Amino acid sequence: MDIVTVQNLKKYFGSGPRQVRAVDGISLSIEKGKLTAVIGASGSGKTTLLNLIGGLYKPTEGTVIIDGVNLGRLQEEELTIFRRRKIGFVFQDCNLVPELTVRENILFPLALDNSRPDMIFFEKLTGLLGLQEKLDDFPYMLSGGGQQCTAIARALIARPAIILADEPTGSFDAKTSQNVAGLLKMTTDTFHQTLIMITHNLELAQLADYVVRLQDGRIVQ
Ligand SMILES: Nc1ncnc2c1ncn2[C@@H]1O[C@H](COP(=O)(O)OP(=O)(O)OP(=O)(O)O)[C@@H](O)[C@H]1O
Ligand SMILES: [Mg+2]
Repeated sequence: MDIVTVQNLKKYFGSGPRQVRAVDGISLSIEKGKLTAVIGASGSGKTTLLNLIGGLYKPTEGTVIIDGVNLGRLQEEELTIFRRRKIGFVFQDCNLVPELTVRENILFPLALDNSRPDMIFFEKLTGLLGLQEKLDDFPYMLSGGGQQCTAIARALIARPAIILADEPTGSFDAKTSQNVAGLLKMTTDTFHQTLIMITHNLELAQLADYVVRLQDGRIVQ
């Protein structure tokens, strides 16, 4: 079953001679539970594509269908709720809230949604990510890898069907990158989630079921 379907997707920024065709006619389907790596040179449109799939950008043209729902048909508020329940984001800079502990940061999305945490799942997830001893720490007390693990746990806690990760390992050395990406793959595998990960690291791309290579906003072989 395809959980993501993208049809003739385009995102243009600006107009006239300065117009940038960041995503310029992309179609793809992603099967549930698979890992897709998105690769390509800087400026090739990777982040723009991810933000379109996640409903953070409105397409200039084309459609994004997530789990049978056409994002273009949702009202703004419906889209916000859909995103919160279905999609987990992991960004390069973790965007943790500095005043909140690791535990509070992880549970934050559930608080926004007024939903009650499944504490058995919380313990399993934080255990897998090696965070159990750090739950009362504040983000500044953690290493970069620890902060990224917190961001991963936060993205996964609501058990979204899809995780979108934009260079989650971008600022790390090779070994830490492998670990963080490996953890992301392991947790999403464990919970049968679909992971779409942008990476510059070809070794990480080899972990993937599919590789999407972008050039000038289009898919190339
Ligand atoms: N908000 C925006 N306004 C105008 N142009 C933009 C905007 N976002 C992206 N672009 C342009 O669209 C193109 C694709 O950008 P994008 O950020 O998607 O590339 P990327 O593949 O993620 O690059 P990187 O590897 O450097 O992160 C670039 O030319 C970029 O300058
Ligand atoms: Mg980018």
